[in-house]
Amino acid sequence: MVRPVPAVVIVGAQWGDEGKGKATDLLGSRVDYVVKFNGGNNAGHTVVIDGETYALHLLPSGILSPGCVPVIGNGVVVDLSVLFEEIDGLEKRGIDTSRLLLSANAHIIADYNRTLDKVGERFLGSRKIGTTGRGIGPTYADKMNRLGIRVQDLFDEKILTQKVEGALELKNQMLTKVYNRRAVSVDEIVDELVGYVDRVRPMVADTALLLHEALGRGKTVLLEAGQATLLDVDHGTYPFVTSSSATSGGACTGSGIAPTEITRVIGIVKAYATRVGEGPFPTELFDEDGERLRTNGGEFGTTTGRPRRCGWYDAPIARYAARINGVTDFVLTKLDVLTGWERIPVCVAYDVDGERVDEMPMTQTGFHHATPVYEYLDGWTEDISGARELGDLPATAQTYVKTLEEMSGARISAVGVGPGREQTVQVHDLL
Ligand code: IMP
Repeated sequence: MVRPVPAVVIVGAQWGDEGKGKATDLLGSRVDYVVKFNGGNNAGHTVVIDGETYALHLLPSGILSPGCVPVIGNGVVVDLSVLFEEIDGLEKRGIDTSRLLLSANAHIIADYNRTLDKVGERFLGSRKIGTTGRGIGPTYADKMNRLGIRVQDLFDEKILTQKVEGALELKNQMLTKVYNRRAVSVDEIVDELVGYVDRVRPMVADTALLLHEALGRGKTVLLEAGQATLLDVDHGTYPFVTSSSATSGGACTGSGIAPTEITRVIGIVKAYATRVGEGPFPTELFDEDGERLRTNGGEFGTTTGRPRRCGWYDAPIARYAARINGVTDFVLTKLDVLTGWERIPVCVAYDVDGERVDEMPMTQTGFHHATPVYEYLDGWTEDISGARELGDLPATAQTYVKTLEEMSGARISAVGVGPGREQTVQVHDLL
């Protein structure tokens, strides 16, 4: 039987910060559950509702839609201090957060992993990844090493203590002998974590079961990726990636929802490109165009405040994201930022060591050597922030959207023309 209202995945098609928060929020009023399935508080969603700006790092953006249940899935790594800071901040602004559910299988970012993230980066020197320093990588490493602390461990202090002891055995050696830091005591970690038990307990659930049952009842589930395709640990620009699965495949492992339940994958792609942290970025601009994109687009990290690296739209990357994720619909964001350019370059292929390459190069070395082959599209000068239908856009902006669609491997179903929820050109229905 084909489900009338299936599970829908939202993924970033570039290096993150494409505006997934706004897209999720756009659908939030029409879905019953919004699930975050990977990453942690390294993410940053900015959502603007009625002129109010909300910056979310850990909470799924569905938290802002009153009819929707926000879920933190098993694939997420959770910093409990940040979780409650964010909850308290929203509650103070009158947002009800009591619907939030947290998977018992999600892993906890312990204080020592925050420390290890920061000192590890310093230790790498010029080989650093440029992480957000939130402890994400070390916590996922613990998960894979089977040394992680899970949410459910909070409810059994004896087990929790044993697990923290196990995790600290090697880490204290590293902290003291390699990184020249002080050792961490088991008690200080356990005490901190146990301090959260009463607040955590009411939100903890078997979220995989609950979501399965919800789908069975015909509810709509939106799975919201943190980070993006090119930051995925398998499919991104490794090693300059995050440590989780940020593509649509990760939506299944990170939530417990089966692949056969997912019928729609929405890729969020910016009308130009940005990246934070280190790693290859063929269309990156080092001139005043880059500076103008950064200023016009407000391209500064939501989580770390770092200026984002900016460049032109890269169609091979969008095609790659379409393929890896099985994108059915793109949402093209921030088109308004391009207003005012006479000609807009779009990368259509790469030159890799003198050879034209039309797709993402197979090797990291190839991608590092890739220089963009550009086509130039006509720009526009009109203010497009009031456009709500494709026909409202100047002809050259319509051509820009259509050309990107032809190059990028899936239809463009919505176009963002400003930060507000309503500042969207709707082309096809997203649900
Ligand atoms: P980590 O996720 O903190 O380990 O950082 C690894 C890489 O992913 C770094 O280049 C970060 O800048 C990048 N990154 C992590 N989260 C985000 C995000 O939400 N948007 C954009 N880049 C991110």
